[in-house]
Amino acid sequence: MTESDRPLLDVQDLVVEFPVRGGAFRAVDGVDFHVRAGRTLGIVGESGCGKSTIARALVRLTTPTSGRILLGGTDIARLGERALRPLRPRVQMVFQDPYGSLDPHLSAADIVAEPLRLRGVRSKAERRRLAAELIDQVGLPATALRRRPAEFSGGQRQRIGIARALASRPEVLVCDEATSALDVSVQAQVLALLRELQREHGLTYLIISHNLGVVREISDDVLVLRRGRVVERGPAERVLTAPEHPYTRALRSAALDPSAMRGRKPRHLVAAASEPVEGASS
Ligand SMILES: Nc1ncnc2c1ncn2[C@@H]1O[C@H](COP(=O)(O)OP(=O)(O)O)[C@@H](O)[C@H]1O
Ligand SMILES: [Mg+2]
Repeated sequence: MTESDRPLLDVQDLVVEFPVRGGAFRAVDGVDFHVRAGRTLGIVGESGCGKSTIARALVRLTTPTSGRILLGGTDIARLGERALRPLRPRVQMVFQDPYGSLDPHLSAADIVAEPLRLRGVRSKAERRRLAAELIDQVGLPATALRRRPAEFSGGQRQRIGIARALASRPEVLVCDEATSALDVSVQAQVLALLRELQREHGLTYLIISHNLGVVREISDDVLVLRRGRVVERGPAERVLTAPEHPYTRALRSAALDPSAMRGRKPRHLVAAASEPVEGASS
């Protein structure tokens, strides 16, 4: 296998369990996938299927119960914090809710400069210069630097979240429902930005969304997750236009149903599942 064929991210038999009364709940149940450098993998599935748990495992906000997460050949699945620290910048996350993930008391400049400090950029002037560069890269005006999160629109806040993630010079960006809270037109702009940044920096993406349209627009390959397991995978275009698995087909017809867009559980999706689908938070 040549260097360029080797996946940058190679996830093998990933299991994440959460303790519950009387045992463990298996939120991720033996998931495998890999992503080559510069490519985009989409992960779709309805609320509660384990998407965010996978995302959190990849950036090691969660320690998997078992399995391997090979990042450039190094298994980071169960590494201790000390060994993890130098690797953390390489995989960064853009969260769904920029309100919750951006410190409301800090200016955009400080939010973006924080990872620069962690990256070892000692000079404050240099951090300011780099923060300004990042803010510009995500399409915000220089005046954005001194404003606080509450002074921005949702789309602008998401751009700050992206700039902050880029400040660590990551190889892999995990976007967990990063555009889900945005209006359709703003969503399209943020997706265009992500594509542009990928071209410029050769970034590798994991795009997680319950929105099949978003995933189809940006992904090379896609993984369909149901109750912590992969039920279908393949090129995004094929899986999302001509799905083979009944669950993917149900997801697809649910996406065409406006009630699904308002976050309600579409009835035919429940009907398509062999057992009732539990309600779960996204
Ligand atoms: N910290 C936790 N403790 C217990 N259960 C959790 C925890 N985090 C997630 N879960 C459960 O794991 C399942 C998957 O959740 P999640 O990964 O957030 O799904 P998704 O992002 O696909 O909506 C859900 O049933 C959720 O309730
Ligand atoms: Mg989620």
